[in-house]
Amino acid sequence: MQRLRLDLDPLRETLLLTLYARALDTKLPHPILGDTYSADLADAIDYDFTKLKIKPSLVCSTALRAKKLDEAVRAFVAGHPDAVVVDLGCGLDTRVLRCDPPPGVDWYDVDFPDVVDLRPQFLPERSLRIGADLTKAGWLDSLPRDRPAMIVADGLLPFLPGDTFQRMTRELTTHLNRGELAINGYTRFAAWSMKYHPTIKAIGITAAQGFDDPHEPETWNAGLTMVEEQLLTRAPEVADFPQPLRAVTRLMSHSTALSRQGTRILRYRF
Ligand SMILES: C[S@@+](CC[C@H](N)C(=O)[O-])C[C@H]1O[C@@H](n2cnc3c(N)ncnc32)[C@H](O)[C@@H]1O
Repeated sequence: MQRLRLDLDPLRETLLLTLYARALDTKLPHPILGDTYSADLADAIDYDFTKLKIKPSLVCSTALRAKKLDEAVRAFVAGHPDAVVVDLGCGLDTRVLRCDPPPGVDWYDVDFPDVVDLRPQFLPERSLRIGADLTKAGWLDSLPRDRPAMIVADGLLPFLPGDTFQRMTRELTTHLNRGELAINGYTRFAAWSMKYHPTIKAIGITAAQGFDDPHEPETWNAGLTMVEEQLLTRAPEVADFPQPLRAVTRLMSHSTALSRQGTRILRYRF
């Protein structure tokens, strides 16, 4: 099979990190997400994934947060079969295939134009694509305003500089009117310490953006009300983590403060 070489700058290259982590999850004795689409996709890309030095902790946390965000999307769509789903910073994620929404749902995958243009080269066309820089205004016009909306952002928050994530959220919730936002949260420390992570260092980008208090987004003037904070150290799927990661995660789960430094899923209603 001819593998495709991608020409990505470091910010875009982070999509290979999450993609490959999901691909590696499929090789675990007990996969958390079991996303074989991601495994096939990684096989189709000509890239030295070993340079990312992905550890079991990153494989499991990436797969688990994807699973929990998928569950949030599926639950919303089940209650709103006419929903609009907006996956922000979608990269080459196969969420639309995993969630397999019914025909009444319109799914928008949003990322930089050159990234969304890659999707049809690798993936079946199940979604509408919006190519945009999320730090800039003016890309929302193509989103319908009058339907219940599920906004999901997986691994995006730390890569948007300054207050651009807040601004973008405010514009989205104003435009879309009603729905839910589901993200994986990063504390300030977790976002700051990412730059020392071997994988992020290998790519060579500086990521820094996070918040500690899960209620903080309620102060962004985006009309958000927190629905749920899920601390994934306490998820039942931890039972399937390989050792010694399972033991360490279980130990961390006793402390809310420590668990918050790990992976957490935050859901808000607007
Ligand atoms: C860590 S990757 C996550 C990708 C995907 N959500 C996943 O889980 O595989 C971060 C993604 O955010 C996108 N991104 C970062 N900054 C962006 C911006 N200003 N506008 C659009 N997309 C952006 C990158 O191109 C990349 O695809």
